[in-house]
Amino acid sequence: MPALAVTFYDVVLTVHILAVVVAFGVVFAYPVIDAQVRRASPGDLAAWHRLHLALGRRLITPAMTVVLLAGLYLALDRWSLGDPWISATLAILFVLFGLNGAVLSPADLRLAELAERDRGAVSADYERESRRAARFGGLALALVVVAIFLMVAKPGA
Ligand code: HEM
Repeated sequence: MPALAVTFYDVVLTVHILAVVVAFGVVFAYPVIDAQVRRASPGDLAAWHRLHLALGRRLITPAMTVVLLAGLYLALDRWSLGDPWISATLAILFVLFGLNGAVLSPADLRLAELAERDRGAVSADYERESRRAARFGGLALALVVVAIFLMVAKPGA
């Protein structure tokens, strides 16, 4: 029977990947849920944007912090922070923290307030803010895809 050699590194890598799933998995569903709420129940838009904010604060940001801490352990244990695939992903993660804190969360707050003001109608102000949020949200999703590719392909390693 082959020996079962599980290292602490394996455990931390599992935590790292699990945190990636928890942090970003739900975000890939946002565009579909957004479209569905707008079409089927625009009166719930304010609650939906407030749910975005709660998920960002209580799930996504803590999970991104775990991605960072576990990633730092993995990088320092077997690799180097100077490896281009690691430094590039580190930069992407900081951009994602910045996008979330400085653009996406404030946009959700404004959208929730606009939806409350508009009481179920979708106003031009809401449309404008929503299009802007969707552009930055799309950028964040594209950065996650690039980060996953860099982590898997490890170019330059
Ligand atoms: C958006 C951010 C990140 C995503 C989506 C991500 C995703 C992943 C994934 C999917 C793996 C598994 C790859 C494989 O086994 O082939 C992985 C491994 C790894 N990640 Fe990340 N990661 C991110 C951020 C970071 C950061 C910031 C660091 C370091 C500071 C880091 C360091 C590592 C290391 C060293 C491995 C282990 C590679 C190995 O042993 O094969 N990651 N990451």
